[in-house]
Order: sequence, then C-alpha cells, then structure tokens
Amino acid sequence: MKEVKILLAGIGGYGINYWKELTEKNIPEAKIEGVCEVMPDVRTRFPGLNERQIPVYQTLEEFYAEHDADLAVISTPIHLHYQQILTCLGKGSNVLAEKPVCTSAEGAQRIIEAEAASGRFAAVGYQLNYQRDVLALKKDILEGRFGKPILMKALHAMSRGRSYYQRNHWAGRKTVNGCTVNDSPFNNACAHQFQNMTFLLGQVLDQAASLLHTEGELYRANNQVENFDTAAVYAVAEGAVPIYYYTTHNLKTPKLGPIAEYRFEKGTIYYGKDYGQGPVMEYVAEMKDGSCFSYADIAKGERLQKLYDAIQCARGGDDPIVEYPAGRHSTMAHPVCTVSCAVPHLQAVEALAKLPVYPVRDEYLNHVQEAGDEFCRITNLEEVFTLCYQNQIMPSQAEAGWK
Ligand SMILES: NC(=O)c1ccc[n+]([C@@H]2O[C@H](COP(=O)([O-])OP(=O)(O)OC[C@H]3O[C@@H](n4cnc5c(N)ncnc54)[C@H](O)[C@@H]3O)[C@@H](O)[C@H]2O)c1
Repeated sequence: MKEVKILLAGIGGYGINYWKELTEKNIPEAKIEGVCEVMPDVRTRFPGLNERQIPVYQTLEEFYAEHDADLAVISTPIHLHYQQILTCLGKGSNVLAEKPVCTSAEGAQRIIEAEAASGRFAAVGYQLNYQRDVLALKKDILEGRFGKPILMKALHAMSRGRSYYQRNHWAGRKTVNGCTVNDSPFNNACAHQFQNMTFLLGQVLDQAASLLHTEGELYRANNQVENFDTAAVYAVAEGAVPIYYYTTHNLKTPKLGPIAEYRFEKGTIYYGKDYGQGPVMEYVAEMKDGSCFSYADIAKGERLQKLYDAIQCARGGDDPIVEYPAGRHSTMAHPVCTVSCAVPHLQAVEALAKLPVYPVRDEYLNHVQEAGDEFCRITNLEEVFTLCYQNQIMPSQAEAGWK
C-alpha cells in the first residue's frame, strides 16, 4: 500500500485537528512530510514536530524546494486559500482545503481549471458532505425516494465573543490588506448547514445545486465586527427550490440547532426535531404515506472522514474506490466534496456581500462578560429566529425591531 506523503499548511487553528488525527491515530498509510506554518513558536506548541523530526517551513515554496507531497491539507486563513491551492496543485499535490475554498466563485472556477491541468484533485472540507448518513440521504434523494424537492430550511447559531474575534487578524472582517475575506457566521463557523442544503439538492453525488437567486437580512450586533454577525438568508436553488437559513453569533445560549427541515413531494426529512424527549440529532424522514424512517443506524464515519477520503483518493492507482456510504461504492477518484460543491455557497457569500448590513439597535443588545470573555447578545434573538424558521420569514417580517 502506497504511503501518502502529507503537507499540513496551517496547524495553529482548525488545522490542529488534522495534526492530531495524523499524530495521535497513527494512520499507517499516511506520513506528515512537512508543515507550513508561520507561528514563531510552532515548535514549542507542537513538540511532536521535533519528536517526529518533521520539518517546518514558512512558505509552501520552501517546502516544495526540498520535498514533494501527495496531499496538501490547507487550514490557513480564508484569503490565502486560493493562491496556496494553485501552488500545491502546480507542484503535483492533491489538495484538501478547508472551507470556504476561496473567496469568489470566479476563483473557484480557476481552481477547477487548475485541477484539470494538473491531473490532481482539490477537495473542500465541508465535513457534512463526507458523513455517510448524509450521503445515504443524498443517494435516496437522487434515486427519487422522496420525489421532487419543495423547500429546504435550517437554523444554526453559535455564541462567539471577543476571544473568537481576537484570535487572528481576519475574523469578522470583510477585507484584510485589500484581500476579500467576507468572514461571517454564514461563511465560516455556521457555513455547513447552508452548504449542505445545496449539496443535497445537487443532481449528482459530487455536485451541489446552483443558486438562481440569493437575498437576505444582515445585521451587526457586535461592533468589533466589520461584516455581519447575524443573518437570515433566502435563496432559490435550481428547480425553483426555496432555501431559508438563519444564523448568528449573538445569542444567549451557547448554541441553537442545528435544526433542519427538507420538504419533498413524498415526505419531509427532519434534523434536530423534538418528538417530546429533546431534539433528535439524526436525519428522520416522515413520509406522506404515514411511514417513518431514520438514518441513525448508518455509521457516520470518522469525525475527520474528509481526511481519510482524501488520503484514500490521493493513494490513487492502488485503490481509487471510496465507499459512499456503507454498502454502496463510487469509483470516484476524488473526494465527494469537490470545488463545484463549494461554488453555490460561495455565490451566496458574494451575493450577501453586496447587501446592506444593519447595526442592531442598542435597546436590543445586552453586553455580557462571562468566563473571561465578552459577548454581545441580541435580547430577543431566540424568539425571533424561532418564529422566522417556523414561518420562513425574515426578522423584519417577524417584527424583530432590530433595524
Ligand atoms: N470545517 C470546519 O468545521 C472548520 C472549523 C473552523 C475553521 N475552519 C476553516 O479553517 C480555516 C482556518 O481557520 P482558523 O479559524 O483555524 O484560522 P486561524 O487564523 O485561527 O488559524 C490559521 C493558522 O494558519 C496559520 N497561517 C497563517 N498564515 C499562514 C501562511 N501563510 N502559511 C501557513 N500557515 C499560515 C496561522 O499561524 C494559524 O496557525 C478557515 O478556512 C476556516 O473557515 C473550518
């Protein structure tokens, strides 16, 4: 079995997850060939670098001057992805890039062209797409089990305060040093539920549905944030399917959701529905013929299944078959979340970037110091978002009073 040589770019933030998976689980068919990281104290923070004699480089070019890699895993700041992906593909590496793949749909298209030119894949780290229960659900949708899609909606919110925004120089920013970032809960921490809806509506397993239209209401509660931190989004996917999505970092509770409801001709799929004993964090289908079934018994796969799939695909010739999902095979030689799967979400990010951001009126804000952090909370957020989600409406229609 060919050992896959891996370059890890960015290990100090989310990238630590890839570092831990590869060093703590000792995946026999993978080896960290090198790390690209600019943190000055990286060898102190990661003693395993010395223990395993893993070289660290400040730039990708310095790494490639001395090594090659079968797979580059990119977990650097959003605005660096585009150039770094092109560099890695150009040097003959396959790529697993964290989401968002880059900052524009046009850039994503150029990455797709670079993949074709290099003969290597670029995959994107939207982890839900790799989950075997999600893939089983998508297979069922594609095979017509639910009929045509009618409406998709989701709500996912996570509380984030000062420490989150101060962890780097780009969190909550629209631009950094002239580069577009468009960081927001919609593009970053709570990106997954929206992207997953476009993924589930895609006409084939490794494509997402394109969006015909995106609009929404965007708000800024926390004045440390340049972009918005609360959003209600309405999009229309191909086939005229409406998509509603609600997300924020300004809630009282640590998190709300994720909850989702996908309505189809023959039934509705719920995630996070409460049947009386708390939310069921599984996909459950309630069919119009009265039957009901759940995807709970499908093993979801590894937490970082995206890494395992990328390793397996990067191994190439030996065994290009990835199991999607248990019992069903795809002969795809690339991981399921292609760059194309990231494009509709990127298009929505770009469409939202053109909309006005309304500061939330002071009377609806509560500034709280808690656990050594500072939070800015919208006092009626939970009530407004619940009403919006239930009725597919915008906060202004729910008389939120925020503007
Ligand atoms: N899939 C998920 O659930 C998930 C969760 C969190 C973050 N992310 C994504 O991961 C990416 C990184 O986010 P983050 O919050 O970890 O960012 P961060 O800024 O906190 O950390 C990025 C890391 O990259 C390093 N870095 C910066 N410039 C570099 C360069 N030129 N070369 C190499 N390394 C460099 C930094 O030193 C830091 O260690 C983003 O795309 C983000 O959206 C994904």
